[in-house]
Amino acid sequence: MKKIQLFSEIHIYESIDELPPEAKNLMEKAAAAREMAYAPYSHFKVGAALELDNGIVVTGNNQENAAYPSGLCAERVAIYAAGANYPNNVILRMAITARSEKHKLTQPIPPCGACRQAIAEYEIKQHKNIEIYFMGEEGEVYKSNSLADLLPLIFDSSSL
Ligand code: THU
Repeated sequence: MKKIQLFSEIHIYESIDELPPEAKNLMEKAAAAREMAYAPYSHFKVGAALELDNGIVVTGNNQENAAYPSGLCAERVAIYAAGANYPNNVILRMAITARSEKHKLTQPIPPCGACRQAIAEYEIKQHKNIEIYFMGEEGEVYKSNSLADLLPLIFDSSSL
């Protein structure tokens, strides 16, 4: 029996105000998108904003459905919109923020596993890391330099 240890690096910013300007701007766009989420069932609104290498920002928010599994997370709404409309552009960074209508979210809210897998596909496709910033409604912002830091042992097309 052997053992391996997997290493991930997360940078922690005290608040949105400590972010580098391009990330702060992106997080503000994610927060604006968050407020337009359609989340009548969970009352948990999520916004995501992606910055492309042509300067365009693509946003998304969670879209729920009375048939619950038919809804989609903010991150996948945003990244599929980028993939659909700008298939040849590189995604530089992504900002994610969540707000609950039930209680204040002061801890960073990480993207769910399915969204990590979806983002991984695009990071691998573009051969360039995607910076990921995520937060709750307020408080600390977590940043990973690459989606790979959030998804050890990624399943990708090399396994097919
Ligand atoms: N949600 C997201 O939009 N992103 C995530 O990474 C986690 C969860 C949404 C899905 C659902 O509309 C609500 O948050 C509660 O799970």
